[in-house]
Amino acid sequence: MPRKKLGRMKVRVPDEETTRKYLLWLSGRELHYEPEILPKIRSDSLFGNDRPLELEVGCGSGEFLCSLAREHPEVNFVGIDRHRKSLYKAIEEASGKALENILFIGADFRFVYPLLSDESLQAIHLRFPDPGAKARERRKRLFSKRFVDEAHRALVPGGRLVLITDDEDYFEQALATVEEDGRWKKESGQGRPADSEGNARSRFERMWEQRGRQAFWLELTKSSTVG
Ligand SMILES: C[S@@+](CC[C@H](N)C(=O)[O-])C[C@H]1O[C@@H](n2cnc3c(N)ncnc32)[C@H](O)[C@@H]1O
Repeated sequence: MPRKKLGRMKVRVPDEETTRKYLLWLSGRELHYEPEILPKIRSDSLFGNDRPLELEVGCGSGEFLCSLAREHPEVNFVGIDRHRKSLYKAIEEASGKALENILFIGADFRFVYPLLSDESLQAIHLRFPDPGAKARERRKRLFSKRFVDEAHRALVPGGRLVLITDDEDYFEQALATVEEDGRWKKESGQGRPADSEGNARSRFERMWEQRGRQAFWLELTKSSTVG
């Protein structure tokens, strides 16, 4: 089934109060010209506490992150996506579950790097990122050398960067990107990482599983020693 069709969903615009509670929309202009006045992606600035923080990039409709947030009230979660309708769906899910430890940010993640603080995240999740069909899109994939470097900077020692994709070419490209990178413990395989996120599934993950489609995963753990 084409991705576009999978991506279609009916969405209700959430009320103002719910939107204020769960969504921070950052325009490209603000991110480009005034990143210093925007809140850092850290537990203290976004949640007013010092709980560990996990980030999902391209969170879509937020099912995966809302599941994690419900299972782990002792952890904060931030989901970033540039698609407003998907985030409305994510907000609906979060408010329906009355979650207090989750926030969604509307932005293109490639412009969000200045908001990441050093050693502030315990995990970064990238699930079923858009592979892009054209060569130009392939070159603009989220999982890039810059992405890996920024993730390394933002993760605490022992923190994890987890990629799951149904696209074998994306997976191979990701493996090649980190092949020579000695700063991580690297594990990879087919399916999903054993037990790493319990029963939490993203929307695409659930749909691909139902159709019996194979997925590939790569888990990078930031070394505790300088490498
Ligand atoms: C194929 S969907 C997967 C959504 C979700 N992770 C899942 O597994 O169900 C990819 C998502 O990444 C988002 N996305 C793509 N490029 C992005 C970027 N540069 N910054 C933020 N979000 C992005 C899209 O809007 C879309 O919601």
